Amino acid sequence: MTGTLLALGAALLVGAAPAAPTTGWAPQGLAAQDDSAYGCIICHADKRRSFTLGVHSDYGIRCDDCHGGDPTAYEIDPAHRGRFLGTPTKLEIIELCSVCHADPNQMRQFGLAADQLAEFRTSRHGQLLLEQGNTDAPTCTDCHNAHLILPPEDARSEVHPTNIPATCGRCHEDAQLMAKYGEPIDQYERYRTGAHGIGVFEKRNFASPTCIGCHGSHAALPPAVTQIADVCGRCHLLLERAFYQGPHGGPARSGTLPGCLGCHSNHGTERTAPEAIAALCVRCHEPESAPALMGVELQEEVLRATEELHYAADAIEEMVEMGHEVADERFRYQSAVSEYNQIALVQHSLNFERLEDLGLAVRSNTGIIRATAEVHAEEQWEHKLLLIPVWFLTLAVIVLAWFKLREEQP
Ligand code: HEC
Ligand code: HEC
Ligand code: HEC
Ligand code: HEC
Ligand code: HEC
Ligand code: HEC
Ligand code: HEC
Ligand code: HEC
Ligand code: HEC
Repeated sequence: MTGTLLALGAALLVGAAPAAPTTGWAPQGLAAQDDSAYGCIICHADKRRSFTLGVHSDYGIRCDDCHGGDPTAYEIDPAHRGRFLGTPTKLEIIELCSVCHADPNQMRQFGLAADQLAEFRTSRHGQLLLEQGNTDAPTCTDCHNAHLILPPEDARSEVHPTNIPATCGRCHEDAQLMAKYGEPIDQYERYRTGAHGIGVFEKRNFASPTCIGCHGSHAALPPAVTQIADVCGRCHLLLERAFYQGPHGGPARSGTLPGCLGCHSNHGTERTAPEAIAALCVRCHEPESAPALMGVELQEEVLRATEELHYAADAIEEMVEMGHEVADERFRYQSAVSEYNQIALVQHSLNFERLEDLGLAVRSNTGIIRATAEVHAEEQWEHKLLLIPVWFLTLAVIVLAWFKLREEQP
């Protein structure tokens, strides 16, 4: 079958329409791996172990389907004869995997897309390997392993979300390799400590992007400047809409502003702290210009709302300590938080009227919470004051009783 696989693969690589395989590879089930007339797995026990854990072995794919040779032979020379391929090169690997994976007729039954080769061809990796024969670029097995190939959902897989950054980092953190291309090697390190990396690694939030969330897996390329906001907007829909409604949408479309990256970092992505907003604007605008002044005003509004939220949270704590029911206040606090969160939208549309409305809404909710807390605190004092006569009376009774006792003693 190998001859057929490689011939078909070569046809795929030059872009010819994939023909149906002529030899009959069809799912055969696990039994095929235990065939006693199967010399390869007797000598190559280590490969057998990882291969049988992988996804392919369940479908009756065997060593000789990729490597050729004679599986019924038990000695090295006859076993490695025939159309024995040995260790395939990076280009041959693309051909091998694509024979099945670029053929929709074979992949349909498994619900798998057959677009990996087509996508790979468009990537920087594919251009290097397929057009220039440059083997610095990854081939299928650099990201998937050669034998222990697992689906992305499997936590042991090299392409599971928690493992993808390290899989890419193997080359992109390699200083020697990347120096050849004048590329930075900090993407993984910065990603790991940024909001998205913390989302994936610490919060196990797989809605947060790994490298492929922004670059694509097989089509990996950096987005062009004018595409950046759309890449981020795939997930941050509302913010993207607000952004395009504001004054920065136009410059982002024309490429004079690098979309979201004008203010956020691509790999070490962070939320801008409230006290750093004004400084952000003067990175591009003259200090005394209208946009810069707007930044100062924005910062003041956001800082004020942030403080208000802190005070309200403290007030609720105090009420809890005094033993008061705070269900209403907690509800109000949640409303204030969601109004506060909408302020972030305004940061992107720079719609000042909306900002003032939201600031007001936050302050009205937190104001009521603080007022309630003050009322409770006053009541607390009144309670303490009321207690003074009670203590007085108690003391008097004790003193009287003491005198009485002394009188009764002989
Ligand atoms: C009698 C034991 C034996 C059998 C049977 C055997 N091999 Fe090997 N194989 C070896 C040894 C030993 C080496 C390492 C020495 C070498 O490179 O020639 C090797 C090397 C290889 C390599 C690496 C070759 C290279 O050029 O890097 C591949 C691939 C391989 N075997 C595949 C197979 C396949 C597929 C089968 C079954 C069709 C098979 N072997 C059957 C013993 C065996
Ligand atoms: C789906 C295709 C595929 C199948 C099936 C497969 N291999 Fe491989 N094998 C490869 C590729 C690709 C390489 C290239 C090395 C790499 O990228 O790590 C390789 C490398 C090897 C090597 C030499 C490199 C090394 O890691 O030592 C040996 C030996 C080998 N395979 C043996 C086997 C045996 C034995 C089996 C059956 C249990 C098997 N292979 C099944 C694709 C396959
Ligand atoms: C002979 C056909 C064939 C060859 C050659 C082949 N595969 Fe597969 N591959 C399959 C089949 C069948 C499945 C199982 C589909 C399933 O279970 O979803 C599969 C599954 C996979 C999966 C898991 C997909 C998923 O999400 O479940 C990956 C990854 C994969 N193959 C990568 C490779 C790589 C890399 C190579 C080359 C080293 C390769 N395949 C060679 C047929 C093949
Ligand atoms: C640069 C690394 C890289 C290379 C090179 C690569 N893959 Fe993938 N592949 C991935 C990642 C990452 C995923 C997981 C995608 C996801 O979770 O959406 C994946 C997923 C897959 C899947 C599962 C189905 C799917 O499309 O999501 C198959 C099948 C697959 N790859 C086959 C291949 C084949 C065949 C090649 C060679 C032509 C190849 N891959 C080359 C990284 C790579
Ligand atoms: C086997 C090594 C290797 C692996 C693994 C690898 N890459 Fe690459 N990658 C390269 C090389 C080499 C280049 C070419 C560098 C250049 O042209 O500047 C490159 C280029 C890129 C580029 C284009 C950079 C540019 O400025 O044009 C992106 C984006 C990229 N890789 C992302 C990824 C992602 C995402 C992964 C993991 C899913 C990954 N790479 C895995 C070797 C690798
Ligand atoms: C949140 C989206 C996002 C994530 C996640 C992401 N990138 Fe990027 N990456 C970008 C953008 C956007 C650019 C282009 C920056 C530019 O044009 O200035 C880029 C550029 C690159 C480049 C080109 C060189 C450079 O640093 O500018 C490489 C290589 C790269 N990324 C690899 C990775 C790897 C590896 C990971 C995972 C550890 C990753 N990226 C995660 C958005 C992302
Ligand atoms: C695949 C979806 C996805 C893409 C693409 C994406 N993000 Fe995110 N982003 C998320 C998720 C989910 C979180 C929340 C992570 C967590 O904390 O669990 C997040 C968090 C953030 C945060 C921090 C929010 C906070 O409140 O701390 C910022 C800032 C951010 N992203 C900006 C960007 C930018 C800029 C881009 C494009 C370069 C981008 N994102 C691309 C999904 C995405
Ligand atoms: C002009 C500067 C600027 C640009 C451009 C910008 N942002 Fe922001 N972004 C900010 C500031 C300032 C904050 C902090 C807002 C706050 O704390 O209220 C922020 C906060 C965020 C947050 C966290 C708030 C939340 O609701 O989760 C995300 C996510 C985010 N931005 C994504 C994006 C995306 C996506 C784009 C592009 C469509 C973008 N940003 C473009 C300045 C900017
Ligand atoms: C990465 C650069 C960059 C940053 C950072 C930036 N801007 Fe801008 N801004 C631009 C560009 C480019 C334009 C469009 C060209 C122009 O009119 O100056 C623009 C336009 C504007 C406009 C419309 C001006 C007009 O005359 O129509 C306002 C308002 C504005 N920005 C406010 C802000 C505020 C507030 C901040 C900080 C939160 C900020 N910008 C941060 C690049 C930036």
